[in-house]
Formats: sequence, C-alpha cells, structure tokens
Amino acid sequence: MRPTLADATRGRILFGGDYNPEQWPEETWPEDVRLMRQARVNSVTLGVFSWSKLEPEPGAREFGWLDRVMDLLHEHGIGVVLATPTSSPPPWMGRLHPDTLPRDADGRTEWWGGRQHFSHSSATYRRYAAAITEDLAARYGTHPALTMWHINNEYCTFDHGDEAAAAFRRWLRAKYASLDALNSAWGTAFWSQGYDTWDGVLPPRHVHYLKNPAQVLDFRRFTSDMLLECFTAERDIVRRYTPHTPVTSNFMPLWSGQDGWRWAAEEDVVSVDLYPDPRDPLGGQRGALVQDLTRSQARGPWMLMEQAAGPVNFRGVNHPKPRGLGRLWSLQAVARGADAVCYFQWRQSRQGAEKFHSGMIGHAGEGGRTHQEVRRLGSELAELAPEVSGSRVPADIAVLHDWHSWWAGAHEGRPSDRVELPDVLTAWHRALWEAHLTTDFAHPEHDLSGYRLVVAPQLYLLTDTAVGNLLGYVRSGGTLVCGFLTGIADEDDRVRPGGMDARLRELFGIRTLHEWWPLEAGETVECAGLRGTLWSEEIEAEPGAADVVPYRGGELDGMPAVLRKGRAWYVSTLPEPHDLRALLASVAAGAGVRPVLEGLPAGVEAVRRGELLFLLNHGREPVTVEVPGSHRDLLGGEKVTGSVRLGRYGAAVLRP
Ligand code: GLA
Repeated sequence: MRPTLADATRGRILFGGDYNPEQWPEETWPEDVRLMRQARVNSVTLGVFSWSKLEPEPGAREFGWLDRVMDLLHEHGIGVVLATPTSSPPPWMGRLHPDTLPRDADGRTEWWGGRQHFSHSSATYRRYAAAITEDLAARYGTHPALTMWHINNEYCTFDHGDEAAAAFRRWLRAKYASLDALNSAWGTAFWSQGYDTWDGVLPPRHVHYLKNPAQVLDFRRFTSDMLLECFTAERDIVRRYTPHTPVTSNFMPLWSGQDGWRWAAEEDVVSVDLYPDPRDPLGGQRGALVQDLTRSQARGPWMLMEQAAGPVNFRGVNHPKPRGLGRLWSLQAVARGADAVCYFQWRQSRQGAEKFHSGMIGHAGEGGRTHQEVRRLGSELAELAPEVSGSRVPADIAVLHDWHSWWAGAHEGRPSDRVELPDVLTAWHRALWEAHLTTDFAHPEHDLSGYRLVVAPQLYLLTDTAVGNLLGYVRSGGTLVCGFLTGIADEDDRVRPGGMDARLRELFGIRTLHEWWPLEAGETVECAGLRGTLWSEEIEAEPGAADVVPYRGGELDGMPAVLRKGRAWYVSTLPEPHDLRALLASVAAGAGVRPVLEGLPAGVEAVRRGELLFLLNHGREPVTVEVPGSHRDLLGGEKVTGSVRLGRYGAAVLRP
C-alpha cells in the first residue's frame, strides 16, 4: 500500500506554505516559528529553491542551516514537506555544464538568472539532481519533522536542444520501431517530409511555415514523459529511504505541459497551485474547476500546495484579495476535497523577482490585514478538520478531459484560433457549476459507470478505445453530451473518415458533417431556444432524426444545432452561458441528477463533502439561503433552522 495524504494529515487539515528561511537572517527564524504557531500553521514546505545554498559548489554539501530549521520546526510541532531543490540549479551548473541548459524552439538558451533552467534530457543535470536528492533523503529521511516529499516544483520546461533531440529520437524509436511507421503516423508524405534516417528527426524547431502537427503532438507527449522520468527518478530515490512517506510534485492549474492523468497515477499525493484573479468575476468558478480536476486526479483528498494570501506579481495589474475572499476560496478548496490549504509563501520576500508577491506575512508584518485574515483562517480550519479531513465529495457527473486531445487540438493550422480548449472546458464547467451540479473530471478511457451523466466539452482526438468506452457507457444506460470538435482525429491526429468518427456520428444521428462554420468574436447564431457563439456546423441529420434543435436564419437555417438520439446528445455550437446552463441542467434532470440545493441565490455555491453542506457566497452582498431541516454551522457553532444568512464572501459549513 502506497502512503497517502492521510499519512501526512493524520486527521488534520494541513495549513501553512512555502517557507524560505535561507532568504532571511537566522535571527528571524524563531520569530517566524512563533508567528506560525499563532497562525495555527502545522506544515511548511522547505527547500524548494535551496540548491545553491545546499550545494554552493559542485559536490559540496551545506546541511547545517537546514538541520537547524528542521529541528526548530519540529520543536514547535510544525511538520515539513521537504522539497528536492532541483527546479532551480545553481549558477555553477550552467557555467560548468552548458549541456544542462534547455533551448527553446528558436535555439535560444535559457540561462541561469531566473529559474527552471534545466534540460529534462540532460544526463549531467539528472546526475546532479539524483545526487542531491539521495543526500537529502539519507539525511532527513528519519527526521521527525518530515511528513511528505515535494519533488522539484511545477515541472514545465521544454527543450529543443541537441541532447533533447537525441532523447526524442530514442523515445520515437521505442514508440514506432520503424521509420516507416513514424512516416506514416506523422503523415510525412505531406510537404516532402519523409525521413530516410532517424538522425534526421528533430524536435519541432523554428520553421518557415506551419509545423507538422503529429510531430508537435509527439513532442508534447515526449516532453511530458521526460519530465515524468525526472520526477520518478527522484521519487524512487526518496522512496528507498522513506517508503511510508508520501511523495508529491505540484501541478499548475489546468496546465498543458504535463499529461495530468498519467502524472497523477505516479504520485502519492496530488497537489496543485491555484491563483485565480481576485478581480475576475469567474474567479470562484475557475477555482472550482481546478479543484474538481485535482480531486479527480487524486481520486480523493488532495493538497492545495500554493495560493496567494494577497496579490500575485505575474499579471499586468495585480490586485489584492478583498477582505474575506481569501477565506472563501480556501473554504471552497476544502469543500471540494482539499485536506491541505497552503500558500506561496510564508514570509513575503524583500528581494528577488517575487518581492511584490504577497506572503502569509506581508511587508506590513504581523499587524497587516492579510496576515490577520490568514491567522483567523488557520483557527477555523483547525476547528473544521476533525469533521472533514479524509471525507469524500460525491459527484454524479463527469466532465471528460484529455491532455493529448488538448495538445492535438491546439495546432496552429486549425479551423479557428478562437477555439481554445481551456475556454470551452471552462464554459461547460461553469454551466454545471452555476446549476449547482457537482462534477468530477475523467479521462475518456476511464470507467464511467459510476456517473449518471458524462459531458465531453471537446475531445478533438479520441482513441478507438475511448470511442468504444463512450459507446459502451451510453449502451449501458448512461447519458452523454458531447460538444463540437469531438471525435475528429485518431491518436496520430489523422482526421477520421467522414470528418468525425463514424460510430459517434451514428450515436448522435449525424448523417453527414458537411462543413464547420466558426464564428468571429462577437458573432452569434440563433437557434430555437438558444443562441450560439464561437462555432457552428453544417450538419445533416439522419432521416427521421427526432429531437433536433435547429439553427434559425443565416446560412444554416433549419439545420440541426443540437441533436439527441436516445441518451446521446451533440451540441454543435457553444451556447451562451445561460443557455448552456439551461440545456445541461435539463439533461442532468433527465438523467436523474439533482442540484446540491434548489433555489439558491445567484453567486452562492453549494457543495457536499461527506455529511457536510458547504455554502459559499461569492457575492459582495449578503444573502439568505433557504436550507431545509436543521443544522449546526461549524463556522461559529450556531444552530441553523430553515435558513442561513451569509455575509459578503461569507460561508457556512452545515452539519445535519
Ligand atoms: C508558483 C511557484 C512559486 C511562486 C508562485 C508565485 O506557483 O511554484 O514558487 O513562484 O508561483 O505565484
């Protein structure tokens, strides 16, 4: 049995953040720990960017400072998620070993002076990374403060350099065995790209005009696999020392660079960093989407590794969180299955690239408003923990998502560059979120039998197995709704005969898919009972097809916009938000899926986790929520009968 997040939480909610004591004089540390205690911090992540401190010159080891920090934290009952520092190599590495530096598609080197300047394919980098990981594991594997390992940080690099090119060729040889197979899969008959030797095959470097899409797709797969090799190499080292300590590496939210399903399967704990924009009216929903995805990757409780206490510094204009919003979004994460609520970072830096990124203690210090809010949240989470830690979030609906399909669908020569998968996914998730329908995410080849409703906002690429899985799901009584640009290509990104998988066309009652009619910004299409945006299609339904919502007016007048055949639905446009919500809510009702709560005021989110009902007011105005029955609000302890009042950004956690 692999360890899980529960081995680190032990019934608590982990609360804390990245702690970078090496940026501060040692005299600050006792003060840090005192303030952490006050804020009910029970976990910090150490060492994420400590490589040059730990190994100031090749092969040297400076562990004394880390020993002292680990001991200090342990003395005060604060657990440590210990990071391997391998995401930011020291300057000496690039200077002595230029082969460790990645190159972009234009051949430009990514130099030290920032971070993440390592080539996933560099044997030298991997050797140094393994050595420091080994020594950290040997030294701290038995330290009583250690609760979890954190490998690297937000794996996200690409490399188009020569060593990566050689690794790419090895990866391709393992996949295709013969050049004929590669030439066929990549469609190299197009534009005279046929390869006569493996040595001629390259990463998709700078070209004159449009790259080969299958080559780009394989390069994305290769990159995800190489980074995963880096992760598993370090993971396996720490596992040898500490088989019972869980291992994680933090994802970025809805990040395209890693095959998130494949990666999650290799982790003991799935963790994510989440930074919605406080000014974004959809910030709460975007957060919910990432939380649902992460919970589904984890198949249970997950870890919010990083969020911001106040403003970030990576947007054009960086807004603080208004009073209460940080608490609301943290409780939202807990509602959606998080058993760890952590921040980047404990103490806001005074120097370096992120000195204007907030911390749990900002430049304003202990008395700062943000820190005071963090402190209150720490107490609330400590109270809540025994009621929620380890419990499950039930969902009857799965949203299908696949990274390979995303990569393939994003090719530059596509029918409309206005179609971006994250936007389409967000629109569909939003419709369900606003209808108070809790959703999991799933891969199209996953077992879907536990869901009453499955929606596929856009699966441009579908393997034969996935198509078979969807068909089998509907055959055994499931309800399926697919959005446009689904089932277009096979796993080599070869367009299916007829322009869309024949079995899917048959499933939806599509006789011919004549043409796509993508829409310009601001352009809409009228349909009976709804208005479409972004995309429309010229479809001929099977003769006698029932239940068709037609386009009205324009080029597509009278043709089907939405088709239904039995329990299979096809939506050939992106309905405006309220129309998509109405459509999916009615399909869900037909499939027997009820909202978490009926009659909720706008902007209020309701989620069940275990026995508990979380009510979250994303609005700035106070609201009253009718709740049948009688409950106790675990935030504050009051009895709730019939209704509960939520202030601006207010929340209630109700136990029957
Ligand atoms: C990421 C990183 C952190 C920090 C934050 C800032 O999530 O993991 O090191 O850079 O972003 O938002």
